[in-house]
Amino acid sequence: MKAHPGAVLVLPAHPDLIRNSDVHHPYRQDSNLYYLTGFEEAESCLVLVPTPSSPRSYKMVLFVMPRDPEKEMWEGERYGVEGAQKIFGADEAYPFHELNSKLPELFKGSERVFYRMGLNPEMDRGVLGSLEAFRRSQGRSGKSLLPIEDPTETLGEMRLFKSSQEIEIMRKACQITALAHKTAIKEVRPGMNEGEIEALVDYQLRKGGCARVGYGSIVAGGRNAACLHYRSNNSPLNDGELLLIDAGGEYGYYSADITRTFPIGRKFAPAQAKVYDLVLKSQLAGIEMVRPGAKIPEIHRHVCEVLIDGLLSLGLLKGNAEELYKTGGFRRYYPHNTSHWLGLDVHDSGRYQLEGEPRKLEPGMVLTIEPGFYVQPSDSETPREYHNIGIRIEDDVLVTANGHEVMTSGVPKSRAEIEDLKN
Ligand code: GLY
Ligand code: MN
Ligand code: MN
Repeated sequence: MKAHPGAVLVLPAHPDLIRNSDVHHPYRQDSNLYYLTGFEEAESCLVLVPTPSSPRSYKMVLFVMPRDPEKEMWEGERYGVEGAQKIFGADEAYPFHELNSKLPELFKGSERVFYRMGLNPEMDRGVLGSLEAFRRSQGRSGKSLLPIEDPTETLGEMRLFKSSQEIEIMRKACQITALAHKTAIKEVRPGMNEGEIEALVDYQLRKGGCARVGYGSIVAGGRNAACLHYRSNNSPLNDGELLLIDAGGEYGYYSADITRTFPIGRKFAPAQAKVYDLVLKSQLAGIEMVRPGAKIPEIHRHVCEVLIDGLLSLGLLKGNAEELYKTGGFRRYYPHNTSHWLGLDVHDSGRYQLEGEPRKLEPGMVLTIEPGFYVQPSDSETPREYHNIGIRIEDDVLVTANGHEVMTSGVPKSRAEIEDLKN
């Protein structure tokens, strides 16, 4: 707001989504609105208005659901207009239904509006109507509609750099999630169902203080793990196969993102062990590179090179390593990227490139390192012993001043440690 003195920010809550008839999906606040306000209630909106003369140089206005004993009896307590000011520090607060009528007034003296079009069509109509009402109120000024600019990138850049408080919360999300994964490694037995393990992980996360998962858990036994966004979590778990769990608790709105792959029975089979060790070697090599100045594509490249070398040694790939990297010939076994930002969203906001170039890592950023190896069920060329295998190992890594901190180190990943924990 300081860089754009004439700008107003209008940041609405996430819409409350109906599942069917009068039943709602669980509500979660929009990450950007939560980031700026900590306000979790639906039907709310933050408006920041420039006030150059005041100490904060803007005025914070919150539109919220007003107190209403009858509604609160059904839906739970609300902060109301008073709470928005007293607890959330708004300079002014109004009932949400007054938003469209108050906005033209709040636009006075502004030169542009930061607002993300397209997320909430109902809100879009209201904001556009208010902009038009404001333009008309200017009479014969010759002025056009205030220009609208999407604040997503700016907020994304802010969110990319975590404060020490945010890092503390993320450590906690990672600790709770690590414990949930450990429990699953210990408790899984042949004959159980993927859904049972999903429920166990969920239970541990909630017990640890997470409000929900940060994304739909992937609990995939055997060949199901080759489906990268597997969602059914409803197959029996077979002895002799591996279980891949990609699950992360959301604590204080910040998500962890951990993947572990381990035997459903007592031990890794020989072919499983070979590819598991290789994925782990590539993951450790990737983590090792995380430090200020490193770049995500360079980390990905190195991870791929380690994987390609290993797959050549195992005879699963044939040819020249560099050629395989350049042509993407290894992608049938490793089709996804190695890293993404992590924070309030599991695939967190923030640009990956600056001025067309991959950006350098800087202290305070959090990213995942998550290589894998997958054999597709339709693959007729790969030897049988490698079939029904999908492996991913994923940790969450904070970039520090001198290197990195693995925030998810609480869950083991070497074969020996995993077999120890199981037995
Ligand atoms: N769980 C989503 C991901 O690993 O990117
Ligand atoms: Mn991830
Ligand atoms: Mn994941």
